[in-house]
Amino acid sequence: MNIRRARYTDIALLSAIEDLQPYSAKWGPRGWPAELVEGISYVWCAVKEEQVIGFVAYRQVAGFCEILNVAVHPAHCRQGVGSALLAHALQEIKKEGGQTVTLEVNEYNLPAQALYRQAGFQEAGRRKNFYHGKEDALIFNRTV
Ligand SMILES: CC(C)(COP(=O)(O)OP(=O)(O)OC[C@H]1O[C@@H](n2cnc3c(N)ncnc32)[C@H](O)[C@@H]1OP(=O)(O)O)[C@@H](O)C(=O)NCCC(=O)NCCS
Repeated sequence: MNIRRARYTDIALLSAIEDLQPYSAKWGPRGWPAELVEGISYVWCAVKEEQVIGFVAYRQVAGFCEILNVAVHPAHCRQGVGSALLAHALQEIKKEGGQTVTLEVNEYNLPAQALYRQAGFQEAGRRKNFYHGKEDALIFNRTV
């Protein structure tokens, strides 16, 4: 597996992975292009045998970074892809001068919470009824 910057030609597969994963952000073919051209956006994808199998997307401005979308194709989950993507992102964020990294995760999304805790994030707050007006978002932070 290798990790590289996502390109326009990856959009169909990035969207397909989102469709398969209930807790991903669902940017879809209309939302992804903006993330690939926006100067403060970074999208990295994990590639195995020339297939995109996962991604991490974040925005970074002046030392502050927000992770916005992470997902791994279900056929490749629990094989270290998510943690490799996150570790890569954290390394790149640091290289670019990032200091604080934040993200939101659904209170019921226990796999992602475990992934983030394992990557050194700590719960720092809660946004009530953030998802669909009824599920809370937990705010996770870490410094790099
Ligand atoms: C969360 C997600 C990205 C994890 O990707 P992954 O490649 O399976 O993660 P890894 O194999 O690197 O797992 C790293 C750690 O995360 C935790 N984890 C991952 N999947 C888990 C699961 N189903 N149940 C419990 N813990 C889990 C474990 O602590 C795991 O370490 P371990 O395997 O040593 O126990 C993936 O499940 C996914 O795409 N989920 C849907 C989208 C999503 O929730 N995105 C985050 C939105 S905030």
